[in-house]
Amino acid sequence: MHYTTLDMTSDPSHYKTVTPYEESSDKKEQVTKMFDKIAPYYDYLNRLLTIGIDTIWRSKAIKVMSKGNPKQILDIATGTADLAIEAAKKLNPDHVTGMDISKEMLAIGDKKILKKNLANIITLELGDSEALKYADNSYDVVSSAFGVRNFQNLKQGLTEMHRVLRPGGQIVVLEFSRPKAFPIKQAFNLYFKNILPFIGKIKSKDDKAYKYLYESVQVFPDYNRFTDILDQIGFKESKWSSLSFGICTIYSATK
Ligand SMILES: C[S@@+](CC[C@H](N)C(=O)[O-])C[C@H]1O[C@@H](n2cnc3c(N)ncnc32)[C@H](O)[C@@H]1O
Repeated sequence: MHYTTLDMTSDPSHYKTVTPYEESSDKKEQVTKMFDKIAPYYDYLNRLLTIGIDTIWRSKAIKVMSKGNPKQILDIATGTADLAIEAAKKLNPDHVTGMDISKEMLAIGDKKILKKNLANIITLELGDSEALKYADNSYDVVSSAFGVRNFQNLKQGLTEMHRVLRPGGQIVVLEFSRPKAFPIKQAFNLYFKNILPFIGKIKSKDDKAYKYLYESVQVFPDYNRFTDILDQIGFKESKWSSLSFGICTIYSATK
């Protein structure tokens, strides 16, 4: 685990960043390497480590995304495409584009899409969320589940999401957050800091990935700090709603 120096300004978009490995390469490169490596175990570990609650969190995000009956959806950092698949199944869109920087995560997603006969609705594309190749104002909804915490430059990634969203369109972000209330906070810390990295290390064969998960959640600007960044970028009506006692939070805003 590697920390960069902490920027002590009050700007929530200036926060300490952590990288998965103690290497000189930048966060983006390390994150790509990590997800390429753990891709074969990712879905299984998601279900195991959250005892399946991650699927409920994605369903809640789908409910928020359904507002306005979106037809063109872009799922950023789509990974193995769970949110893109749910959106295609539940929201009756014309098209869902899922994009991600890890080709191994996308390869698993592509297999799932073929198996579910959704290839006519969902397209997965390799790309960097901080430099989207999509046109301005082209999507009704831009979503991301557990993706934005991994960006090298959060503000740049969110600015890109704002650019490709059409006026009136909605951004929906699902991300881990730090629960505040006793005893959930204490239980969360024990589980995320000690138990989860231990199981993750054995099952994913990467001894850093699930340690990085805990560390990256600790420094991520959650709750109001995240909506403050959305406001800075120019989003309107930004709000958050916590799930499972604050372990996860849904953020939404409009352009
Ligand atoms: C924790 S996974 C989430 C995957 C999926 N959205 C889900 O709900 O399971 C985070 C994903 O973010 C992707 N990612 C990280 N940085 C990225 C970037 N700069 N551009 C695109 N994808 C990125 C990773 O490759 C990984 O697939």
